[in-house]
Amino acid sequence: MSALLEIRGLCVSFRSRGGEHPALRGVDLDLGKGESLAVIGESGSGKTTLLRAALGLVRPQAGMVRLFGRDLAAAGRRERTELLRRCGLMPQDPYGAVPPTLSVREAVLEPLLLVQGFRSTPGSALKAEALLREWGLPETGLWDARVSRSLSGGQRQRVCGARAMALDPELFLADEPTSMQDASLRGEIVAILERRVSSGMGLVLVTHDLILARKAARGGMVLYRGTAVEKGPTSLLLEEPLHPYTAALARALPRLGRAISPPPSGRAATEGLGCPYSERCDRADAACREAPPLREVEPGRFVACHQV
Ligand SMILES: Nc1ncnc2c1ncn2[C@@H]1O[C@H](COP(=O)(O)OP(=O)(O)O)[C@@H](O)[C@H]1O
Ligand SMILES: [Mg+2]
Repeated sequence: MSALLEIRGLCVSFRSRGGEHPALRGVDLDLGKGESLAVIGESGSGKTTLLRAALGLVRPQAGMVRLFGRDLAAAGRRERTELLRRCGLMPQDPYGAVPPTLSVREAVLEPLLLVQGFRSTPGSALKAEALLREWGLPETGLWDARVSRSLSGGQRQRVCGARAMALDPELFLADEPTSMQDASLRGEIVAILERRVSSGMGLVLVTHDLILARKAARGGMVLYRGTAVEKGPTSLLLEEPLHPYTAALARALPRLGRAISPPPSGRAATEGLGCPYSERCDRADAACREAPPLREVEPGRFVACHQV
């Protein structure tokens, strides 16, 4: 298996008024060719930060990111650009992700032109058009419209997807890629991702939605406040969750649209001590004052919980 992305002990903090605020606290991740991994967690758990750090867009305080076998921290600027060219990022926020003066067609064409020294070829134009159709943006006068005008959030999000796939990325990082889509288009986007993964692309899919994770990715990692609390096949995360937090996510599913209660705030004094989930956990006891390590409880299934 050739490794596309390896992350070890990744720690990222942001400085804010209250001091250092940890967003990732020692995350490990491995992804090979043709593999798919969902990173699952509620808002604020560190999912976007993980994707950004994987591309070197956020500087970690500790840990290592290796892209295609190269340590990002050791790569020079030119090498880093080359490594990033082999990756596609579909950002969470499609507003501002594409230069607003570009047309829909140009938004997808631009990455192709960049690597061709800004010469348009019939091949690149056809490729951009094929991608737009694939992403549910057929030619209806839309291709020449400015991205900043007359496009819905969902359409913009799909333009971002097509753009991120323009250079046939070996590694695709999709941050909540269906968040602005209605049901039928969600299915189409999952199908696009599946097709690419089956032809060898590596996929890291970020989502708060266990069902989407299950549909679009084989492996899963559940993040809670910057810590991986459970890892394993997404089918088992959904059907036989081990960690109390994963179980709460799975239980919350039938009540669609109702998020589970947000983490309590104002607990800065306890940051870093004990199990991060203990304050919300109905199974917590004295043992949980010590942080549980992520341990393998069955082949391929990992959980960080003293009660499992
Ligand atoms: N650029 C930033 N500056 C300061 N804090 C940030 C920044 N980006 C993220 N954070 C904080 O880091 C934590 C994780 O954020 P994020 O990675 O966006 O989570 P998610 O994508 O899971 O919602 C949050 O508490 C967020 O407020
Ligand atoms: Mg996010």
